[in-house]
Amino acid sequence: MAYQDLSTDALKSLHEQFATAYDDFRSQQLNLDLTRGKPASEQLDLSNELDGILDGFYVLQDGTDVRNYGGILGIPEARALGGELLDLPASQILVGGNSSLTLMYLYFDFMFHHGGWQREAQSSDGRIKFLCPVPGYDRHFTICERFDIEMITVPLVDGGPDMELVESLVDSDPLIKGIWCVPKYSNPTGHTYSIETVSRMAALPLRAGRDFRIMWDNAYVVHHLTETPDELANLMEAAFRSGTDASVIMLASTSKVTFAGAGISFLGATEANLKAFEGYLSAAVIGFDKVNQLRHVRFLQDRDAIDNHMAKHRAIIKPKFDLVLHKLNAGLGDSGVASWTQPRGGYFISLDTLPGLAGEVVRLAADVGVKLTPAGATFPYRTDPENRNIRIAPTFPSISQLDTAMDVFVTCVSLASVRELLGVQ
Ligand SMILES: Cc1ncc(COP(=O)(O)O)c(C=O)c1O
Repeated sequence: MAYQDLSTDALKSLHEQFATAYDDFRSQQLNLDLTRGKPASEQLDLSNELDGILDGFYVLQDGTDVRNYGGILGIPEARALGGELLDLPASQILVGGNSSLTLMYLYFDFMFHHGGWQREAQSSDGRIKFLCPVPGYDRHFTICERFDIEMITVPLVDGGPDMELVESLVDSDPLIKGIWCVPKYSNPTGHTYSIETVSRMAALPLRAGRDFRIMWDNAYVVHHLTETPDELANLMEAAFRSGTDASVIMLASTSKVTFAGAGISFLGATEANLKAFEGYLSAAVIGFDKVNQLRHVRFLQDRDAIDNHMAKHRAIIKPKFDLVLHKLNAGLGDSGVASWTQPRGGYFISLDTLPGLAGEVVRLAADVGVKLTPAGATFPYRTDPENRNIRIAPTFPSISQLDTAMDVFVTCVSLASVRELLGVQ
């Protein structure tokens, strides 16, 4: 029965039960961490073959010696691999270093110095603005903060951002210069954008102007948790048909495919956009790590091989997601005090507490040794207006750590909720 429907006596007895369980956890002196959206070491082990895979072979078919300088756009084979991930021709791919986040940051810097964003901000005597679907990825928001871009939140609904709102915001404010999107298995909610969302997104620059950018961060493009992956329509193709492809910037990386700290990243854009970005980069880079690009090409080969490799990741992490969902269902299933996502891919489970309680749940858990992502982290300026969203990252801890951490988590949500309903501190 929902806690809201219980009598005060029944709530008091639940309170006693949860408070006792909570004190038990305190005596265990735990030190557990549910914050890190990182691969576990068994997942990293799946790619150990990268080490030594070249075995002295460094020269490409076209004669390029990957150990030497040059080739900002990347070796052709790695560009083709990125094209398989982002569903683009190799000619529309730049291969970067080990972090797609760096490419995103640099792309913003490029847009400020060469792409008209600075001019726009100055001419209107104000800051440019970006649309941020929420809950979302904190580091996207950090990039905006670093560039002093005002963030406007848009809720994620079934099928992606609320496009009605997105369109009306863009129509009413010419200073809005872009939108962040994690279109597949979104961080942290697991949303995959619908075909309708993709086609409305493709038409957005027609309303917003040529300096508008759709930052299409496909970080979880191959990270399925089921054997029937979600389908995502090709934004670049839809934008090409609408004549807006110059506004599309796609991103992906192998961070959660091979080594999170030593993978390769991809930026997909029109050839003209890539050329301009390459020119900008040439002041800072003579070429990214081509040896690592070749190692990745050798190891990952093509989309089929990547899918097989990702199935091995799935075998490791699916039981962890299942465990978290089982604990949430068993502990909070009919309580009416929390709701959570059932992701079909990606790295996170997103949970909403009763309004106003996320910070308190995070504090209670920290006090007994379980670290959770800070409340508010999934919103711009670290401020969740309803203070209710918590991001759970199941991949890094071991199953037994996760088991205990989730018992603590469920107890903290229950305790905070019952206290709230009883009006006690
Ligand atoms: C949506 C999203 N984009 C990008 C990244 C980081 O990617 P990379 O390691 O390539 O910088 C993450 C990592 O958590 C992410 O969740």
